[in-house]
Amino acid sequence: MCGIVGYIGNKEAIDVVLNGLRALEYRGYDSSGVAYIESNGSGRVVKQAGRVEHLLPGLDQEKSKIHIAIGHTRWATHGLPNTLNAHPHTNSDGSIMVVHNGIIENYLEIKRELAKNGYKLITQTDTEVIPHLIDYYLKRLGSFEEAITAALNDLKGAYAVAVLATAEPEKIYAAKLSSPLVIGVGRHNEYILASDPNAIMEHTKKVVFLEDYDLAVISKDKLSIKDLRKNTLKSAKAELLDYDRDKSSKGDFPNFMLKEIFEAPQAIKSATLGRVQADKGIVKLGGLETVTTQLKLIDRIVIVACGTSYYAGLVGEYLIEELAGIPVEVQLASEFKYRSEPFSRSSVLLAISQSGETADTIAALKKVKDYGCLRLGIVNAAGSTITRLTDAGVYCHAGPEQAVASTKAFISQVTVLTLLALYLSDGTKGYRNLLKELDLLPDKVQAVLDQAEKIKTIALKYKDSKDFMYIGRGYVYPCALEGALKLKETSYIHAEGYAAGEMKHGPLALIDEDFPTLAIATDSPLLEKTYSNIEEIRARSGRVVALATEGNKKIGKLVNDVIYLPKTLEITQPILSVVAMQLFAYYIAESKELNIDKPRNLAKSVTVE
Ligand code: F6R
Repeated sequence: MCGIVGYIGNKEAIDVVLNGLRALEYRGYDSSGVAYIESNGSGRVVKQAGRVEHLLPGLDQEKSKIHIAIGHTRWATHGLPNTLNAHPHTNSDGSIMVVHNGIIENYLEIKRELAKNGYKLITQTDTEVIPHLIDYYLKRLGSFEEAITAALNDLKGAYAVAVLATAEPEKIYAAKLSSPLVIGVGRHNEYILASDPNAIMEHTKKVVFLEDYDLAVISKDKLSIKDLRKNTLKSAKAELLDYDRDKSSKGDFPNFMLKEIFEAPQAIKSATLGRVQADKGIVKLGGLETVTTQLKLIDRIVIVACGTSYYAGLVGEYLIEELAGIPVEVQLASEFKYRSEPFSRSSVLLAISQSGETADTIAALKKVKDYGCLRLGIVNAAGSTITRLTDAGVYCHAGPEQAVASTKAFISQVTVLTLLALYLSDGTKGYRNLLKELDLLPDKVQAVLDQAEKIKTIALKYKDSKDFMYIGRGYVYPCALEGALKLKETSYIHAEGYAAGEMKHGPLALIDEDFPTLAIATDSPLLEKTYSNIEEIRARSGRVVALATEGNKKIGKLVNDVIYLPKTLEITQPILSVVAMQLFAYYIAESKELNIDKPRNLAKSVTVE
């Protein structure tokens, strides 16, 4: 999704900004642009529909003289992904240049007011109102800082903005509301601003996270932050980010998705490291220690999340209800925000998110801010907005996930949810078997990965399908939903996930020889019932690929193809099944020569509602 980078210091600002934008490319975008102050004090914007690399020819010969610049990668929300709508946007004379992430909900209203005052806006974007509004106030208030303050106070919705102005050629203004923005404090009189720490890490790990309603005024040797609501200065609290750059390179893999699928064993190890002592039956979650007493009093958990994290949450519902006996509800964050529902202080809101920046999930957390209930998080990205909005939480420690399609994050989320369920249960000692199985799981996942070639051969038989059904029961029902999501987002094949028992209530009507099914038929007390569902599909000429447990002698006769998975407990089955389905989707996408890491229309970190 959209990305912002800004730089002020002694380095070549355009290069720093372009490198930062490259580091954000994984988030997905459709156009890009930069703005900077030239050595003669005038402003310049270079932008186009397309990749950051295409900006290079348009950039100045005098690049070495530029020491202040902002840049943007846009993921279109308002208006086509063309050059006109690309950021930066400017006022009419180009003296105020703005890049923006988020959505200005009242932009039409502001546009109308600006038009009444003679302003002519030329793009279809919501962002363009910002430079014009600053221009409007500048003419009335005289000071740039007052003008930007007044303009920001008029905006409704979500924003992270960076602003350059020829009137203040040695300053970058930056502000945020419900959209992340972080400022890296460089070693030699320099600051790097970005919407995602990935763009900063090359320069510094010392960062200041801006908070909602902060306005930062950044010059080469000074950073000051004003609280827009109180109109007072506040201190800039710098923190050190724990970040391993090596983990964010592709290594020998052709793309990030395959690399990240193969990181599943490590994801499980990292999620359990230092938290589990299988022989003693101990689960320790340091991130929850501050809320242990409150956790004893809870009577309901509401999980909020989106996409893959939501499906991990659904697995969590089965886990927590079975192991800890606490009622769990899982809600799509985008729906939760707008529902009126009873929510008592003894309920917990648990947000699950890889990026920690998903706008819908953040909105759900904000909704319950004043309810007096505990807000917990299961988050992968350290220091992200969700980690700062929650009272306590558990990190996934999966390392940076770069491919848009989430893979290893799901594995670590489900691992953490298993630990959480045990932690919330009366006594973990009774679950020694499960803890031992968690210890063995990385090797079992590796055994699934070792079958990649076989999974590829099976996947290729189905690559020309236009539709796919995924079915499962119990713990692997949410996995069917996740398997279908992986296939649709990476290979653009229509895929639906269903509880196997639901097929006869409608979806069976879809099945014919051209509508194959992936059935998760791994060992469980419900296996016989899944067999019946498979028979019903076969009776309608539907082809079936099954995921089954090693040693299953019956399944081969029932279905067209089988991928065998190592024996494990029913509870830990989701992890093995999902890894197999990630590979299945991956190889179909690969055979279609699609852009696997950046599927069309999608973005990694979804920072708009
Ligand atoms: C699918 C996928 C998305 C994300 C969703 C939530 O592969 O990646 O569905 O899971 O956008 O993102 P996070 O977990 O960052 O909140």
